[in-house]
Amino acid sequence: MRTRRSLLDLDDLTADELSYIFERAANLMRGRLPQALKGVTCVNMFFEPSTRTYASFNLAEMRLGADIVNLAPNDLSLSHKGESIEDTAITLSAMGVDMLVLRHPDVGFPARVAKAFDGHVINAGDGCGAHPTQALLDIYTLLDEFGDLRDRTIAIVGDILHSRVANSTIRGLHRLGANVVLVGPEALLPHNLHEGAATVERNFDAVLATCDAVILLRIQRERFAEMPLDMKEYVERYCLSERRLRCLRGEAIVMHPGPYNRGIELDECVLEYAGWRYAKQVMHGVPVRMAVLDLLFNGFA
Ligand code: NCD
Repeated sequence: MRTRRSLLDLDDLTADELSYIFERAANLMRGRLPQALKGVTCVNMFFEPSTRTYASFNLAEMRLGADIVNLAPNDLSLSHKGESIEDTAITLSAMGVDMLVLRHPDVGFPARVAKAFDGHVINAGDGCGAHPTQALLDIYTLLDEFGDLRDRTIAIVGDILHSRVANSTIRGLHRLGANVVLVGPEALLPHNLHEGAATVERNFDAVLATCDAVILLRIQRERFAEMPLDMKEYVERYCLSERRLRCLRGEAIVMHPGPYNRGIELDECVLEYAGWRYAKQVMHGVPVRMAVLDLLFNGFA
């Protein structure tokens, strides 16, 4: 039986573990930096571009005292010498690597590795699949703001169909009792609505006055061949413009996992809005990931 815990999606965490991660992250925000991963080896392998998630995992591992190896895809035998990912995983296990953090364009890639690797695997984003630590830091940011998410209305706007962030976040928010409204054009909405975890509203203007938080998403242009819609029309209907910003409730917050595109999903004025929480999300990423790493490796303290 496998005893090493992995985090492939939020469903891998029980309700108690979710609360534990949020509490632990809050303590870490207050500045305690335990060497909880002293002597533990983490390998980060990112097969897709990443700024935030990559730097955030590195910092989280560093702050817990781990030994870190960053393997760039171009330098791997996997990419050039015909080695399979399973054999790469066996090799890293034999070296005593404890923790693998993986980002890859294929859905299910981290799950495949978790079967071959004798250690912990964390999914740092697999194609259009899942991105559990981004969902955790987004939910942490919402909890930090509102305390409790029951009956809060959270609108997720944009390319939901190709968003691994949305996939993980929708399920997490639903578990915590939030009303999740998916806003976007037909062509970018998922076909199954996460088994009733969310509702759909095509008209962004119709939800502005009712939501407590708006999570904007980037169009994942790298994940489909042809743009299924007219960009000008998209911007007209879904960009968070100055006019739309003024329709939000005074205490509503706006979030984005990043990277954001000015003039597409948001206008410049959003960056000056009092409820713009992007920097907080990024800041929360490090303690949330520290809490995840600690929980997977050491279990409940
Ligand atoms: C997201 C990702 O890579 O899935 N970014 C992130 O991890 N902060 C979202 C995106 O690329 O649009």
